[in-house]
Amino acid sequence: MASKLAVSRTVGPVYLFLLLIVAAFLPSPTLSSDSDPLQDFCVADMKGKPSVNGFPCKPATQVTSDDFFFSGFTKEGNTNNRFGSNVTAGNVLAFPALNTLGLSMNRVDFAPGGINPPHSHPRATEAGVVVKGKLLVGFVTTENVFHSKVLTVGEMFVIPRGLVHFQRNVGKGKALALTTFNSQLPGAVLLPNTLFASTPTIPNQVLTKAFQVEEDIINKLKIKLS
Ligand code: GLV
Ligand code: MN
Repeated sequence: MASKLAVSRTVGPVYLFLLLIVAAFLPSPTLSSDSDPLQDFCVADMKGKPSVNGFPCKPATQVTSDDFFFSGFTKEGNTNNRFGSNVTAGNVLAFPALNTLGLSMNRVDFAPGGINPPHSHPRATEAGVVVKGKLLVGFVTTENVFHSKVLTVGEMFVIPRGLVHFQRNVGKGKALALTTFNSQLPGAVLLPNTLFASTPTIPNQVLTKAFQVEEDIINKLKIKLS
């Protein structure tokens, strides 16, 4: 009996210590998206200088109901461009009331055959729903596995944070998706532009070796995307 007690007395603190170590290494929920706000709202004062993590708050006395509503998604985006798609951003820059709230949305319009080209969001996971038409939605994991599905109206998708993804309109008419992000400013790295139309451009020696093609192909891509 006495030795049983002695064992449980030593196992208890050891168990607690191990539990604390494991807990310390578990990802903190506040690291998975923008940090939590400390007040009801902080409508961005867009004239103020952005600080480390967002914009300064507009004085509460100047906040009106209108600050909390956004009509930027009422109009169809112009898809008359090389990709046949248009992203209307509903992030903190367009809708300052999102400041410190850790989320934002996009309206994405597609012409028939249009694509939202391969891109990634460095600061957010994306979820989306097809509102009109039929979209092929795909993303590639860090293990290079490609996941994709054709979605119709009402169907939803999720793109884990930072992974390269795209949508392509595979229906007969126009298509529309609404997407949402767990960041007020998710950022977008648009691969064709990032790789071939940066300022200044990435040296051809890097791109020819990376893509294993001759320089004329790289030059053509740079001209097309510039
Ligand atoms: C779609 O991928 C979007 O970024 O809105
Ligand atoms: Mn996206």
